[in-house]
Amino acid sequence: MTTGSYRFEQLGDASFQTERLYQQSQAIRGMEAGILRASGLGPAHDVLEVGSGPGFVSDLLAELAPEGSLHAVEPSPTLAAQIRDNVRQAPARGLFVHQAFGNALPLGDAQIDFAYARFVLQHVPTPQSVVREVHRVLRPGGRFCAVDSDDGLVIFHPQEPRVEQLLRDAQSIQAGQGGDRFIGRKLQAMLADAGFVNVRSRVLSLTSSELPFQVLFNILLGYKAALLGGAVDVRALHQDLAERVATGRQLVAAGVFIVSGEKA
Ligand SMILES: C[S@@+](CC[C@H](N)C(=O)[O-])C[C@H]1O[C@@H](n2cnc3c(N)ncnc32)[C@H](O)[C@@H]1O
Repeated sequence: MTTGSYRFEQLGDASFQTERLYQQSQAIRGMEAGILRASGLGPAHDVLEVGSGPGFVSDLLAELAPEGSLHAVEPSPTLAAQIRDNVRQAPARGLFVHQAFGNALPLGDAQIDFAYARFVLQHVPTPQSVVREVHRVLRPGGRFCAVDSDDGLVIFHPQEPRVEQLLRDAQSIQAGQGGDRFIGRKLQAMLADAGFVNVRSRVLSLTSSELPFQVLFNILLGYKAALLGGAVDVRALHQDLAERVATGRQLVAAGVFIVSGEKA
């Protein structure tokens, strides 16, 4: 089908990448619960998660829709095998794990009330086909929420040349693998083109004043460092930045796009 720029089995440091996804889910869990409810997720919904990874966010979705069902779709066999263990309480109508790509969802038409894709579409060579598939499986009135990054919203002040190099190199490697580090700004039009109505975009900002620096650093640079396979001394970079952040002399800020739409 399609491989794209997130190939878990080839990332090298699997336990670090899983830990990074865990930190990324826990650091903003409360905020994310609010975003999901505001985007239309209800307690009795049949929910689809595209690109569940190891299932840390699946656990939150199951908690927020306890009377419904959850279909967790994940192409990596290693990650798909972890989802059940990371969902503490399956929803009343069941937890269904599908090892599959979002471009060919193993679901019939109009079965889902709420769909979520978090940091997934940036890795998919044909994200528009995933958005169309999500639209197909939603019931009329069902809602889709996509959360993704955009490197245009990453600010290090003062500028740090090693970070700029890391971002530039990761952008071109990810693009070479079919991914897109600037997808955030494109999601709104993608949803509209797929037929969604009432499409809304907002940007959630994360700064080094709000999150532990280690967490923010791993969110922003952990995957990129893995992609580059040691071309930058990430440990030294982390230490230098952490010292400056601790004294208030370094600001790190990033925005994440949250885009939602409804099936007419
Ligand atoms: C950065 S991880 C995010 C995992 C999870 N959504 C989270 O936020 O913790 C990206 C995930 O998207 C999955 N993925 C990549 N291409 C995909 C595709 N075409 N369809 C569905 N999932 C895909 C990867 O296997 C990986 O688990």
